[in-house]
Amino acid sequence: PFTPTPADRFTFGLWTVGWQGRDPFGDPTRPPLDPVESIERLAELGAYGITFHDNDLVPFDATEAQRAATIARFRAALDKFGLAVPMATTNLFTHPVFKDGAFTANDRDVRRYALRKTIRNIDLAVELGASTYVAWGGREGAESGAAKDVRVALDRLKEAFDLLAAYVEQQGYDIRFAIEPKPNEPRGDILLPTIGHALAFIEELENSERFGLNPEVGHEQMAGLNFPHGIAQALWHGKLFHIDLNGQTGPKYDQDFRFGAGDLRQAFWLVDLLERSDYRGPRHFDFKPARTEDFDGVWTAAAACMRNYLILAARARAFREDPEVREALRAARLDELAVPTAADGLAALLADRSSFEEFDPEEAGRRGMAFERLDQLALEHLLGAR
Ligand code: GCO
Ligand code: MN
Ligand code: MN
Ligand code: MN
Repeated sequence: PFTPTPADRFTFGLWTVGWQGRDPFGDPTRPPLDPVESIERLAELGAYGITFHDNDLVPFDATEAQRAATIARFRAALDKFGLAVPMATTNLFTHPVFKDGAFTANDRDVRRYALRKTIRNIDLAVELGASTYVAWGGREGAESGAAKDVRVALDRLKEAFDLLAAYVEQQGYDIRFAIEPKPNEPRGDILLPTIGHALAFIEELENSERFGLNPEVGHEQMAGLNFPHGIAQALWHGKLFHIDLNGQTGPKYDQDFRFGAGDLRQAFWLVDLLERSDYRGPRHFDFKPARTEDFDGVWTAAAACMRNYLILAARARAFREDPEVREALRAARLDELAVPTAADGLAALLADRSSFEEFDPEEAGRRGMAFERLDQLALEHLLGAR
C-alpha cells in the first residue's frame, strides 16, 4: 500500500542520490553516479521526476560540444524512462568565483557572470519542461560585520531577481521562481535566512507574482522554527511554489537526512497540512544519503523518503477520519476559531456589552482547552496505536 507511483509526484535532485559524501572533514565515500543511472533507478522506484543544478548535469568546465552531447543523452534517458523535469536551479556556490556570493558578491563582474550563468540554465530548464526555477543563495552572506553592507546587498539581490523576471517575461517563458531560505551554512549568516524574511523580501520585487518559496524542512529547523507553521504561512500568502523535504534533528549543521528521519512529529503535521492544502506541486526530496552508505544504502534511503511520506499521509488521514478525533477537535474549539471574530462589524462590537462590560474573564480563564487529549490522539495515530 505504500508503493509510490508517478501520480504521487515525488521528485529528487540529481545532487541528492548523486552526493558522493564529501564533507568539510572527509573525502568522498562513493564514486560519481551517472545521471542516466539516477534517472533509471528513480523511475524504477516510482518517482515522477528529477531536478538538477546546471553543474550536476554539465560539468563547470565542459565545452559547448560536451554540453550539447550531455544534454542530448540526458533527454533521451528522460524519454526512455518517463521522468519529468519540473524544476531546475543554478550552482552558484561550488566554484571559488562564488566564494563571496553570486548575486550579492562585492565584485560586480562576479554578479554579472552569475546572472548570465543563471539565464543560460533557465533556457535549458524551460527546454526540458520545467515550470519552477529555484534560487538558493547559499553563498549570499557573510562571516563578519563590515564585509557586507546588508542593505546594499539586498538592493543587488532585488536587482538580480528583477532582471531574471524581465528576462523570462521577454522570452515568454511559463516559469516561476522559488526562493529557498537557509539561516547559515556555507556562509556564517545567509541573506533571507527564513521563510518570513523571504516572504517580506518578495513583496519588494518588481514582478512579485512570479516569486514564491521553496522552503526546506531542515533549514527552518536549523533556525529553531516550526516547519509546518512556516509552510502554513507560505500557503496562506499563496507563496508555496515548491518544497524541499528532508529530515533534521534541531539546530545543528544542515543534516539533510532522508524524509521521515529527524523530527518525526513535525513530518507528520507537515504531511497532514500538505495533503489537506491546495498545493499541487511536486513533493521534492532534497536529502543526502549518509556517507556511511554504499549505493544499496543510497537507493534504500531514496525509496524510504517516498515510503515515509505515504505512510505519514495514511496516518494523517486516519487521524482526521477518527470519530473520536473529530469530537476532540470540537472540544478543542477548532470550529470556533473558524468563526470570524466580529462579522457583525466594529460598531456592533463596541456596542456589545457582553463582549466587555458583562464579560467574565475569570470564568473564561478557567475553561480547559482539551488540547492534551487531542494531541495524544494524534501521537497514537502517528505511532500506529490506533
Ligand atoms: C542545502 C540546500 C541546497 C539547495 C539546492 C538548490 O541543503 O543547503 O538545500 O541543497 O536546496 O542546492 O540550490
Ligand atoms: Mn539542507
Ligand atoms: Mn534544498
Ligand atoms: Mn540540500
